[in-house]
Amino acid sequence: MPLWGGAFSEPTDDDLRALNDSIGFDQRMYAEDIAGSVAYARAIAQAGIITGDEAERIIAGLLLVLQEFEAGVFTLQPGDEDIHTAVERRLTELVGAAGGKLHTGRSRNDQVATDFRLWVLAAIRDMQAQLIDLQRALLEQAQQHVHTIMPGYTHLQPAQPITAAHWLMSFFWMLARDVERLDDCHRRTATCPLGSGALAGTPFPVDRAMLAEELGFADYTPNSLDGVSDRDFAAEFLFALALANTHLSRLAEDIVLYSNPLFGYITLNDRYSTGSSLMPQKRNADPMELARGKAGRLIGNLTGLLASLKGLPSTYNKDIQEDKEAVFDSFDTLTRLLPVVTAIIQTLHLNPEKMRAALTEDLLATDLADYLVKKGLPFRQAHHVVGEVVRLAARENTAMSHINLDTLRSLSDLFAEDVAAVFDFEQSVARRAAPGGTAPEAVSQQIQQAEAWLNGRITP
Ligand code: ARG
Repeated sequence: MPLWGGAFSEPTDDDLRALNDSIGFDQRMYAEDIAGSVAYARAIAQAGIITGDEAERIIAGLLLVLQEFEAGVFTLQPGDEDIHTAVERRLTELVGAAGGKLHTGRSRNDQVATDFRLWVLAAIRDMQAQLIDLQRALLEQAQQHVHTIMPGYTHLQPAQPITAAHWLMSFFWMLARDVERLDDCHRRTATCPLGSGALAGTPFPVDRAMLAEELGFADYTPNSLDGVSDRDFAAEFLFALALANTHLSRLAEDIVLYSNPLFGYITLNDRYSTGSSLMPQKRNADPMELARGKAGRLIGNLTGLLASLKGLPSTYNKDIQEDKEAVFDSFDTLTRLLPVVTAIIQTLHLNPEKMRAALTEDLLATDLADYLVKKGLPFRQAHHVVGEVVRLAARENTAMSHINLDTLRSLSDLFAEDVAAVFDFEQSVARRAAPGGTAPEAVSQQIQQAEAWLNGRITP
């Protein structure tokens, strides 16, 4: 008979058990479950529900159960439906009748909500540390390439020259937002539902503020109905991870493309690329393709949980048990992925000559328009004139810089000898020196800003 089997005359059907049991995946919350129970034993002792002596025996028993889990010797029994029943069953075996008093005024509903929040709080800090490792790798690569010039793209069409450091740093800031988003998520997760009972609250005078504090929460939940069923924190965590993976997926797309021999801008280290079983020349960026592919999976975990939650009537419903596998899977997936992506960035080889070879003069068309603007022409007109220059160069099958001054002057008399200076990629990037721009000067400032951001983070 299961723990709750008092009113039942027949044992649960085996197929139902297989469907209903969550022990297979929720046992990884054993430490959180035990921590919650230790705090709860103290709280009900303080409320006079159990004696101080009983509390001590319960706590000692719980610590033994913890040791069994840590040592890998905890043996599951067929009736262990989930981590909560498993721990309670073992506790009662170890300390006798006192173990049966622990659950007074508590329900698995407030218990699981507490355990899971504790688990997510730790997972958030872990994930932030992993993201920050990748940020550091990006920053270190960027420092090497402040003066390396490559084509920048919009619509995947060559647009304007940029510095490679600027490209790398763009991902640093995406990840900085991910880390900060996880801070927000942490803040809302750090609310303790314990003491909510099954749904209506507890009739025993447990000190919820003390419970919350002892477990490291910032506060306790203000409404028991909401407290037992709120899984916003799980959805938010899944969103933060899905968006972080979306950023990795965008980085992946660039890396796949730039490592293609047609671009050749970067080379992946041998240890982090794979070959083909058939075509000896192939070097595939498989890990980055996986980074791109996994984003689909993480987005699926998020939308899956939202769909499970959306139609729920008030308070706890078993549908909510779907929360954990989604969260564990997203966390585990990123935990496998991030160290590899970080290593890829750390060992990435940039090929500045290939980048240089891909710089074509049409990338300077905007600079040519800006030249006319500086001579007093309104930008719209300048854009039009340069459009004609581009067309002329294409028709004559030549570069813009090879069109002679007289021809240029026939399009606008603002063109003068000094136009020659426009056709210089170094000058083009150097001009974009306003904060946030691609100029080496601005990127160096950006890198300092990034270092300050990293230093400003209390090490999670
Ligand atoms: N395994 C359950 C879960 O993960 C624990 C809560 C069960 N509560 C209940 N009333 N059956 O959600």
